[in-house]
Amino acid sequence: MADRLEPLISAAQIRRRIAELAQQIESDHGGALLTLLVVLKGACVFAADLMRQIEIPFVLDFVRASSYRNATRSSGAVELDSDARLDITGRHVILIEDIVDTGLTITALAEALGRLEPARLDVCALVHKHVAGARPLDIRYKGFDIPDEFVVGYGMDHAERFRNLPGIHRLIQPRVEHGANQPPV
Ligand code: IMP
Ligand code: MG
Repeated sequence: MADRLEPLISAAQIRRRIAELAQQIESDHGGALLTLLVVLKGACVFAADLMRQIEIPFVLDFVRASSYRNATRSSGAVELDSDARLDITGRHVILIEDIVDTGLTITALAEALGRLEPARLDVCALVHKHVAGARPLDIRYKGFDIPDEFVVGYGMDHAERFRNLPGIHRLIQPRVEHGANQPPV
């Protein structure tokens, strides 16, 4: 049986929510030296739309983190590949993620970036997936809460597919329906 996609969050819903997030960001960071730090690759679509709604000045930069490889469960090991030339000391930094799942990626990134002594570090995630047992996280700018399901679209992929979908969809895989997609032990 082939993978199935079920619509979860529409492009119009995303657009409306992003406008609200951008306003929140403007009112929190107006007058500050602001850096938008995009977590590659999944957040690139979200960041591209978000930044075009933000009317205060900012610097754009990128970091890479990966914990999934080609699976639908976080591997638990986060690989960081941040740019050694990142210049965020004394700046307000907003870390932009597509989706927070276990929180491992964002926590590891925040710790690494904290060593560079930004004046302020906030997290902006389009989607927060609620996973049983995950540690609580402070996501100041959050688009949507979703249950613990694998989603694709709007930048998010499964094995590099589906990033180009304009909305967010559940990915239903036959083996998931048969209960065999348990986290690695
Ligand atoms: P975490 O470290 O478990 O919070 O995983 C966060 C990262 O895993 C995100 O940056 C995404 O790239 C990826 N991810 C988590 N859940 C999904 C999903 O449902 N679909 C696609 N990517 C996901
Ligand atoms: Mg990611």
